[in-house]
Amino acid sequence: MSAGQPPGQAAHPVHVAIIMDGNGRWAQLRGLPRQEGHRRGLEALRAAVKNAGELGVKILTLYSFSTENWRRPATEVSFLLGLLKRFVEKDLDELHAAGVRVRVIGGRDDLAPDVLRLVERAEMVTRDNTKMTLVVAFNYGARDEIVRAARQLAAAAASGRVEPAAIDEAMLASRLDTADMPDPELVIRTSGETRISNFLLWQAAYAEFVFTPVLWPDFDRAAFEAALAEYAGRERRFGGVSEPVDRNVGAA
Ligand code: FPP
Repeated sequence: MSAGQPPGQAAHPVHVAIIMDGNGRWAQLRGLPRQEGHRRGLEALRAAVKNAGELGVKILTLYSFSTENWRRPATEVSFLLGLLKRFVEKDLDELHAAGVRVRVIGGRDDLAPDVLRLVERAEMVTRDNTKMTLVVAFNYGARDEIVRAARQLAAAAASGRVEPAAIDEAMLASRLDTADMPDPELVIRTSGETRISNFLLWQAAYAEFVFTPVLWPDFDRAAFEAALAEYAGRERRFGGVSEPVDRNVGAA
């Protein structure tokens, strides 16, 4: 849960997470190859980072490649990996200059050495930046993340460093890839799909969800603002009740 945020009317979200979906359909609608959809998806990703900064979002998490995405045809997988590499290689300096800290969440053990090096470089170069944080979910699956955290706790318990009965939510959360980040208050999914697809299952426990029919390559500033406006109209209660609003105060 977003620590410290009282129940009641939603404030501006600090952390927004996005499931970028619909690149393939965007291309198909135009009779273009899927790769063109992903290329345009990368443009939309760049714009989303810029817009998030301008709209006051402090943390933007983007689902760029899931643990399930490896099942796509090899040519599409290598194209997506190529886009990610190009993104880091070409955009890192600009992101760094803009004060953006880059963090990558997801499993690292099975990443190719060149990809791992890029990920580590991006994190290292930008680690002291404070204007905004861009969290790239890459080779990410929430169940995998929770399993990795559980393994760490099990090892700690087996070696006597942790008492099983002392394991609580904070202890598990501190072993997730998102340790020390506030949970997202808002999760957006584009392209009209209304699933969570193994994204931030733990962290999104109290998030608001906005599903937009806009395909990811078309997710522009107006679409971002519309999602934030929808969020602002929601009431967040965290399992509690609304704050009483006595509209008759002062009335005769
Ligand atoms: C969904 O479109 C998008 C993805 C598979 C991931 C997002 C990728 C980008 C934004 C391109 C940049 C890539 C990286 C790794 C930085 P889809 O192919 O699932 O669309 P569809 O559901 O219409 O087929």
